[in-house]
Amino acid sequence: MALILGLESSCDETAAALVTSDRQVLAHRLAGQEAAHRPFGGVVPEIAARAHVEVLAPLIEAALADAGVTLAEVDAIAATAGPGLIGGVMVGLVTGKALAHAAGKPLIAVNHLEGHALSPRLSDPDLDFPYLLLLVSGGHCQLLLVEGVNRYRRLATTIDDAAGEAFDKSAKVLGLGFPGGPAVEAAARLGRPMVPLPRPLKGSPEPHFSFAGLKSAVVRAHAAGTWSVEDIAASFQQAVVDCLLDRTVRALGRAHGATALVVAGGVAANGAVRTALADLAAANGLRFVAPPLWLCTDNAAMIGWAGAERFAAGLTDPLDVAARPRWPLDPGAEAVRGAGVKA
Ligand code: KG4
Ligand code: ZN
Repeated sequence: MALILGLESSCDETAAALVTSDRQVLAHRLAGQEAAHRPFGGVVPEIAARAHVEVLAPLIEAALADAGVTLAEVDAIAATAGPGLIGGVMVGLVTGKALAHAAGKPLIAVNHLEGHALSPRLSDPDLDFPYLLLLVSGGHCQLLLVEGVNRYRRLATTIDDAAGEAFDKSAKVLGLGFPGGPAVEAAARLGRPMVPLPRPLKGSPEPHFSFAGLKSAVVRAHAAGTWSVEDIAASFQQAVVDCLLDRTVRALGRAHGATALVVAGGVAANGAVRTALADLAAANGLRFVAPPLWLCTDNAAMIGWAGAERFAAGLTDPLDVAARPRWPLDPGAEAVRGAGVKA
């Protein structure tokens, strides 16, 4: 049994966790920065990086104390090395390197997306490779065939905004505040999905995503003054769900050998998204796996778990490993027009 210290700092959550290779999360400490970013309506990279500097070390100390272990008992240190806001990534990765060096432990540089991609295997011991993964977060919207640790085939990506980004931008337009996803979901519960909004790329042969046009349509619907914020929120959420479903159906035809449909990333916390995907999986004779909500949004347990999976596969990294603002999970994936323009 291996014990891994996981560190996460790639966006606006600072977190440290102690995770074992037999799927126990012995400790998880997380500090969000929502209050610091709220006045700006979005994450300010410089503010995020400074906050990581202040809270990461105390969080690690607290997590070790919670788990009742010392650094000497840890087998490896796993830190997010990208992709993400580079200032924050550097704080976590340098901290991981310093601890690894001081304690004489191996370092594991984890791709944040791999953390999300493998997180369902932490919560579900029966989830075997390969599986079709819909990875929907604030920065990414991808369909991946997860073939094994370090083996990811990207079947689709977004040509403009990520799904979570669309939630966040629409929330801002509708005056629902930050972070947008949960606020839109709460408003949608009170509304009726009757505002006509587009379903970008629905029906197109490649399973890629697009959400920029949907956000613009939300701006226009709001400006028209005809609909309530709740009705627009409900209609927007329905449009996102329709797009995710249509694109996932398209990718299913290419996910050879997959026995499960898996959703991960912050948008996987959305109840309407989860329900729709669960129904789709059932209709296709696939298992449906979605991690618990706390494991969907950014956290360090998923980084510790990805570290445990990599450690078991003998994948550790040298102390000069780079921090990467951009880091595709599938280096062989073809460039898609319009895709990857955002951090
Ligand atoms: O995975 P995550 O915590 O961070 C990234 O790696 O991006 O995802 C954050 C994203 C944000 O865009 C947030 O608005 C969205 O996930 N999100 C949601 C919900 N909870 C978080 N979107 C829709 N419904 C939710 N309940
Ligand atoms: Zn994330």
